[in-house]
Amino acid sequence: MAIQLAHHRPQWKTHIGFLLAAIGSAVGLGNIWRFPYLCYKNGGGAFLIPYFLALLVVGIPLMILEVGLGHKMRGSAPASYAMVSRRWEWVGWWQLMFVMFGIMLYYTVIISWCLNFFFLSFNLGWGDDPDKFFFSEFLMKSGSPFEIGDVRTPILFGLAVVWFSSWFIVYLGVEKGLERANKFFMPLLFVLMGILVFWSVRLEGAREGLAVYLRPDFSRLADVGVWIDAFSQIFFTLSLAFGIMIAYASYLPRKSEIVRDSVVISLVNCIFSVFVGLGVFAILGYMANKTSQPVDEVVTKGIGLAFVAFPKAISLLPSFAGIFGMLFFASLVIAGLSSAISIIEAFTSGIVDKFHYSRGAIVSILCTAGFVGSIIFTTQGGLFWIDIVDHFVNHYGLVLAGLLECILLGWVYKTKRLREHIDHASSTKISWWWDYSVKLVIPTVLIVLLVNSLIKEFSAAYEGYPVLSLVLLGRDWLVATLFAGVLISMRRWKVAPEERLEE
Ligand code: TRP
Repeated sequence: MAIQLAHHRPQWKTHIGFLLAAIGSAVGLGNIWRFPYLCYKNGGGAFLIPYFLALLVVGIPLMILEVGLGHKMRGSAPASYAMVSRRWEWVGWWQLMFVMFGIMLYYTVIISWCLNFFFLSFNLGWGDDPDKFFFSEFLMKSGSPFEIGDVRTPILFGLAVVWFSSWFIVYLGVEKGLERANKFFMPLLFVLMGILVFWSVRLEGAREGLAVYLRPDFSRLADVGVWIDAFSQIFFTLSLAFGIMIAYASYLPRKSEIVRDSVVISLVNCIFSVFVGLGVFAILGYMANKTSQPVDEVVTKGIGLAFVAFPKAISLLPSFAGIFGMLFFASLVIAGLSSAISIIEAFTSGIVDKFHYSRGAIVSILCTAGFVGSIIFTTQGGLFWIDIVDHFVNHYGLVLAGLLECILLGWVYKTKRLREHIDHASSTKISWWWDYSVKLVIPTVLIVLLVNSLIKEFSAAYEGYPVLSLVLLGRDWLVATLFAGVLISMRRWKVAPEERLEE
């Protein structure tokens, strides 16, 4: 049985297929609407310093850890952790749980908004007042997280399309589904974004927009909040502590360039973000110029950037405005889908490893459950729910999961053993600095982040929302997924995790 399983583990057909899939997971909505805004808010070009520092200090070492671990153990996150220590298996399940039944539930809803806006772009259907359109007509936003209101039908339709497409791709399998889809999606995304950026930077006023984006304000670096933003963005954007990269790496052949690939995935993702930012700010500069306002006034926060500021700017374009809009929202949909499928695969891989159920059945159940679970975020109160769940999962779930991962691999397992494996498999080697980073540097950084977030949390209710909503939707969401994770980890393995590897 064990022998059979080891041989039947799916594998990427090509090396580039793996790279594109991993990049597809990393490059997502977070790169297109979140990064440019964070950069703007946190001192423009100066933000690149903490951002790239976070990439070097936390991002790349953790990426090497996840790719190395998945490759060595040839298993999903829970299987890999269980092979280190059975007592830690729950960490893997918890990661998969809060990403699949936390982040993913609202992430797919945002992709659905993008899909709707793609169609709205045809005739600039957001009208003269995109702000009012987005909040009052499209979302029909209610007054508080407790006023759920009705399901918004257009969003529900989009959502069904998103879940169906994700199901379809993952159902087809690693090679025929994920690899093929990413080989098509990623080049397409790069071309679309390339067109958009070149189009934007040549518009009148683009220069002022770019100046705002890249003008470094070094004084902002004194603010701890800027550093917290940089480090948590690195986690989210590289899909670290999601359990995804571990699963993806488990489908690699024995001889693999772990170190080089990890660096390539991380760098391509971050450079892509900076590149997209050029386009976003160029077009904001154009809008500022057209409406004779300073650029600062046309920039809106997070979600508003893509769904309010962008539509406004698009409507002002002299020609081919609809096409510009379609390219932009199509890029968001593609970037989002290629990330969404990665968690479905990672979760499926975890269940297959442990219970040996049929892959197709798991994917189908998972996507149905996910679709049903997402519906709550398509209601009129959905935006509040998104905001709260997103805040707690990112600031606590990911950071805590990352911390546990480092403690497990750094202290329980000993980084040296994993490093020897990584060095053995790849031609580019890592050295002692990596051990220090996993054992000491990353945990220290994460603890500082955690303490700072906690202090902020207790000093004021997040965004002034009712405390009860924060407790129920924020804290308890994480606790519920933790429970579910622990429960699954207590079930019996069909074949002990260590034996899966015997060939
Ligand atoms: N890295 C993605 C981004 O920047 C986020 C992401 C990756 C994600 N995989 C995911 C979100 C799975 C939800 C589900 O946007």
